[in-house]
Amino acid sequence: MITAKQHKQIKPYIIVDKEPLIWEDGRQLYLIDFKTFEKPIEKKKIDHTIVLNGHELNDLNGSDWTIHGKSVQTFNSPITEKRKKHGAAFPISLAKHFIKIYSKPGDTILDPFAGVGTTLDAANILKRHSIGVELNDDFIKLFNQGIDPKDGKPNFDYRRITIQDSALNLNKHFPIESVDFILTSPPYANLLNKIRERFADKDYNGNPYKNQSRKLTKPYSKQEEDLGNVTYEEYLLKMKELFLSLHQVAKQGAYNTWVVRDYRDMENSIPYINLHSDLITVAQQAGWVMWDIIIWDQSNQRKLVRLGGNKSRRYYFNIGHSFILVFRKNMKDEKFK
Ligand SMILES: C[S@@+](CC[C@H](N)C(=O)[O-])C[C@H]1O[C@@H](n2cnc3c(N)ncnc32)[C@H](O)[C@@H]1O
Repeated sequence: MITAKQHKQIKPYIIVDKEPLIWEDGRQLYLIDFKTFEKPIEKKKIDHTIVLNGHELNDLNGSDWTIHGKSVQTFNSPITEKRKKHGAAFPISLAKHFIKIYSKPGDTILDPFAGVGTTLDAANILKRHSIGVELNDDFIKLFNQGIDPKDGKPNFDYRRITIQDSALNLNKHFPIESVDFILTSPPYANLLNKIRERFADKDYNGNPYKNQSRKLTKPYSKQEEDLGNVTYEEYLLKMKELFLSLHQVAKQGAYNTWVVRDYRDMENSIPYINLHSDLITVAQQAGWVMWDIIIWDQSNQRKLVRLGGNKSRRYYFNIGHSFILVFRKNMKDEKFK
């Protein structure tokens, strides 16, 4: 493990104009040494893995490879204190599932919207290095409390770092082609404010929901850089910028997986915001190849409520699923059979 003193002596790959706060195991670091992320790791030769230019994707065996391939999934994990406090963290079983598919031990995983660090915790438990970027100090404090024993055992030989900054400054911190896999769930352009105002306690006729058991997520912060506070148009422009940066820092052949949910904007009489498809468009404009969509069935987590009204002739489904979008940065001159 590198001490803060040793970190001071290491030359960074990229000089940042404003020094960000970087954390590892609850201690503040000065610089990240990317060389240690490439620490050689003992490689097992396993059959049934795809070998592309001699670079294996993962260490799943044949039957795990098949079982992981279901395109509709449910993910259940114990709710830990920090994920409960965050309010929009995904289950660690979801993070483990995709990390096992799209990376192998010793790889480096990035989450540009790290929250309380679910991706980083899963990566560490599975013996991968991980770096997260997160704007909100309160979530970083929770991340710094470490891995909850309910989630698994930490591996101190693998780094688990978070940088307090905006994801839009990503390529100030990362060398190009340094990341093996990206997994994230983004904030949604002022979605949380809209849900709160329009759906929290009342139905579309303004009547309070009976037996409402949903705990609604609060907006993450009031910060300008928080992508949960911008208009939808601005949001998509910024997401395109982010997809461009991610494309630069991803290694060739790396996958980039986003967990997103569509929503409704009743304030502006828009019955359905097709967020997942708009994100696909901007990701493709930034050079990412659309690779797969997995549906995360969350219908068992929420009580059904009646939406719409008979006389108004408006009927709305309870949106009880998220889309898991998988993009890939194809390798130069890669041929598909
Ligand atoms: C859906 S949550 C991610 C939760 C995470 N997957 C977890 O399990 O903890 C989105 C996160 O993005 C953060 N965020 C919003 N704008 C950001 C920005 N510009 N840069 C970095 N993080 C940002 C929010 O503070 C929030 O924690």
